[in-house]
Amino acid sequence: MIADLRPEGTAPDWTLPQNWSAYTAQDHATWDTLFARQARLLPGRVADEFLAGLDILRLAKPGIPDFDELSERLMKATGWQVLAVPGLVPDDVFFDHLANRRFVAGNFIRRPDQLDYLSEPDVFHDVFGHVPLLANPVFADYMQAYGLGGQRANGLGAIRNLARLYWYTVEFGLVHSAQGLRVYGAGIVSSFSETRFALESDSPHRLGFDLRRIMRTPYRIDDFQQTYFVIDSFESLLETTLNTDFGPLYDNLADADDIAITAIEPHDRIVSNGVQTYHSGSFQAAAPRDGLDLSATKS
Ligand code: PHE
Ligand code: FE
Repeated sequence: MIADLRPEGTAPDWTLPQNWSAYTAQDHATWDTLFARQARLLPGRVADEFLAGLDILRLAKPGIPDFDELSERLMKATGWQVLAVPGLVPDDVFFDHLANRRFVAGNFIRRPDQLDYLSEPDVFHDVFGHVPLLANPVFADYMQAYGLGGQRANGLGAIRNLARLYWYTVEFGLVHSAQGLRVYGAGIVSSFSETRFALESDSPHRLGFDLRRIMRTPYRIDDFQQTYFVIDSFESLLETTLNTDFGPLYDNLADADDIAITAIEPHDRIVSNGVQTYHSGSFQAAAPRDGLDLSATKS
């Protein structure tokens, strides 16, 4: 795996200075374009906690955020920091950062011809997508618990199962609200097209959150998801994952088959039973490379 070779100029924990002054006017303009588009689209579609985070962290300020400034605000809110990395990092490095309330963000920004799709998380995905919810105390605790859980899963050979939990919550999660379904996963909120697809398309399944079910469900890294999982609240997500010992679950899953990505199972709590026309039979099971943070943001 390429990601195991630590790039030159990075510290042993794979971080490096953000080097904010090196961003060009075009880099900042790209951020502003993406920001303006999502800021128009998201109200009424995203969880309130996300919008509150944008506010608390003053993310509407023009230009790519300076991570030191951002970390200062985030530290005051929930004790988290944002540190720069060149790209994807190995699982154990990623888990160690999360376990210590450090979120690592790619410091590069996509090119102007990549506004709608890129296969590696850039600063817009990582900061706009992930950081606002880290200002929420409950979600902040969930992310740390996930890091600690990752260290444990690593020792139990269960990263593949645990990565699916990250994918279907942190990256592509939906949440019930009094006003209806809302998006909160970073892969969705940083994507203009998937925000609408996840909420408004009749193609994907939307199913009630179920830990074991999620851990048996593969996911797509190359296109919109075919199934989304809906949590009742961030509190219930944190409570369920903290209060469940994943050890026996991993043991039990070792003998369980994966669930086909288009399937509905007898015990599923169906929010919507998707017609699955968007992907029209083109699914190939994605081999989760490291499975953690490779968010496809497809137009
Ligand atoms: N309870 C999990 C375990 O026993 C840890 C965990 C908590 C994992 C929250 C993810 C999210 O491993
Ligand atoms: Fe991500």
